[in-house]
Amino acid sequence: MLYGADYNPDQWPEEVWDDDVRLMQEAGVNIVSLGIFAWSRIQPTEGEWDFAWLDTVIGKLHAGGIRVNLATATASPPPWVSASYPETLPADESGATYWPGSRQHFAPSSPTYRRLAGELVRSIAERYVDHPAVVMWHVGNEFGCHLPMDFSDSARDAYRDWLRAKYTTVEALNDAWGTSFWSQRYAGFDEVFPPRLAPYSHNPSSMLDWRRFTSDMLLECYLMEREILLAAGATQPITTNFMGPFKPADYAAWAPHMDVIADDCYPDPSSPTRVRDSAFQRDLIRSLKPGVPWLLWEQATDAVNWRPSNPGKAPGQLMAETAQSVARGADGIMFFQWRQSRAGSEKFHSAMLPHAGTDTATWRAVTELGARLAALPELPPPGRDAKVALAFDWENWWAVEERDHPTELDYLAVCREWYGAFHARGIMVDIVPPEQVDDGYDLVVAPALYLLRDAGAGALLRFVESGGTLLAGPFSDVVDEHDQFRDGGFVTQLGQALGIRFENFGALGGASTGGSGVGAQGGRQADASHETLPLRIAETTARATLVAETVHPTTADVVADFEDGRPALTRNQYAAGEAWYVATVPDAAGIDAVASELIAASGVEPVVAGLPDGVEVARRGELVTVINHGHEPADITLDGVDWESGAAVGSRTLGPQEVLFARMPVAGTGPEASADPVLAHAPTA
Ligand code: GAL
Repeated sequence: MLYGADYNPDQWPEEVWDDDVRLMQEAGVNIVSLGIFAWSRIQPTEGEWDFAWLDTVIGKLHAGGIRVNLATATASPPPWVSASYPETLPADESGATYWPGSRQHFAPSSPTYRRLAGELVRSIAERYVDHPAVVMWHVGNEFGCHLPMDFSDSARDAYRDWLRAKYTTVEALNDAWGTSFWSQRYAGFDEVFPPRLAPYSHNPSSMLDWRRFTSDMLLECYLMEREILLAAGATQPITTNFMGPFKPADYAAWAPHMDVIADDCYPDPSSPTRVRDSAFQRDLIRSLKPGVPWLLWEQATDAVNWRPSNPGKAPGQLMAETAQSVARGADGIMFFQWRQSRAGSEKFHSAMLPHAGTDTATWRAVTELGARLAALPELPPPGRDAKVALAFDWENWWAVEERDHPTELDYLAVCREWYGAFHARGIMVDIVPPEQVDDGYDLVVAPALYLLRDAGAGALLRFVESGGTLLAGPFSDVVDEHDQFRDGGFVTQLGQALGIRFENFGALGGASTGGSGVGAQGGRQADASHETLPLRIAETTARATLVAETVHPTTADVVADFEDGRPALTRNQYAAGEAWYVATVPDAAGIDAVASELIAASGVEPVVAGLPDGVEVARRGELVTVINHGHEPADITLDGVDWESGAAVGSRTLGPQEVLFARMPVAGTGPEASADPVLAHAPTA
């Protein structure tokens, strides 16, 4: 188990470094991510390099037995870069420049930025590639975090090249974008601009390509650095830190280029859905590389500094949140950052070593956590533990939240709500693109899968044909990969399996947004000001939100109706399986009731049945983790042995935030699971 933090010794005088290593040892730290924002210290001016300090730090860490995840330091260009090469600066939609003075002020597609960043990476790699302390490479940092989209002239030029490579002829682009509409027909690629400030809606098909392009530009920066590391002879795993469900970067497309997946997760202590949402994030991350453990690269020991109000964690919460990561596949637990900064924007952000020193609750929590993780017997790799898959797709996310639709819909919120119905019951869920659905699952939930590629539809159909249970809808199977309607109406791919015919989207009325719709990050959930419709599912009275579509069963049975008698939930036998359609976004009670029906129909089981509310359970091969996230003690019963003590568990009371790691054998788990420890995932070119 890796344990550690971002380490920024460049913020501190050399006198502190020995103390750092000593205290790291005391806390059980065995790895640090080093030098993530150290570009200006390594290369103070163009042509001037200073590695002496880094040599010293790495030497001290190595002597202290602390491994290094060495950063390529490219995330924050030094002042000389911005001053000498203004073409490296990004721009917003209106052409305004993002100036230096913060971080991430680079245009990802700027050839000059890439050249300078490349020189930095090459220098670092050549110097340290064989250093015995260096066990991993940390490329960039949270690509796109602050600046997911750049509209600069570099982006314009790169976008035109990207479109040329994708479409070859401008006629193909015109077809894909439907440019006969509103006189948008292009005569050449050089007439295309990024979607800069415009009087009204941009062409939605172009927006989809623009989002693909911006995700690709960030990925290209990563790949550029990765190739330099490989060329320098890197044999250590290479990766960058993801941010869970981060809309601008299609991590499903990025994942094959990461040797292991690393993720940053900062659950909002004030959010009533904190536990569910962080479980969703960890399951999404685990699902990106099935069978391979992942690394939690950043979490906070206590408060962060960047929300409007930043409460700390409750006693025990750090352990409970950490256990959730371990339970869902993490083999490394790390923090931002090691020593709390004394200057700069993040001086109020918690760290492993607080500014108030070691006589603090944070330091005690951190050292206790390190000791407990170090003592854990070896963990199994995450296996094929989930029988339920949630089909989650970035391209669909981009398309379904474009403006000018029957209703505005918050895709992530809808997916989390469905996920929550299974999470609350202790049922494991993988979160995968539709193409990755296979017959290893028993139940697949595909909410609001508006954009459905042929390959995704094919995988979903094969899944049903082979005996699986699928739920789709609402607003699913509406457009193709260009965000265009397909010939033949709607649900053209899944309609036969679903046994329905689609008539209309039936948007429910809502409060006016008072303008021309939502921005690029838009989307909403229904709230009290929006119309809802009563909906009865089995014994539950729920409400339909956002849409109440009109669908007609062809071969499907109607399971639930809207108040006006139209079908709200249908179920159709198809080949060896069944396909369900839900014609609305039910409220939480409704989603829960539909989930009950699906669980009964598919026979999927919880990891442990009968746990009290607020008690989370997850399986990772033989490891079953039970976490009491509640404020009261909780009684649990479980037929397994304590992973740490070896004693039989039986019935036990878990205090608030208490964690039980248990061993419970499982039949047939993890044929594809990797037995390699996470650091053994060496890169291949
Ligand atoms: C992350 C970032 C870190 C630090 C942290 C604070 O987004 O990678 O450098 O800023 O947030 O929570």
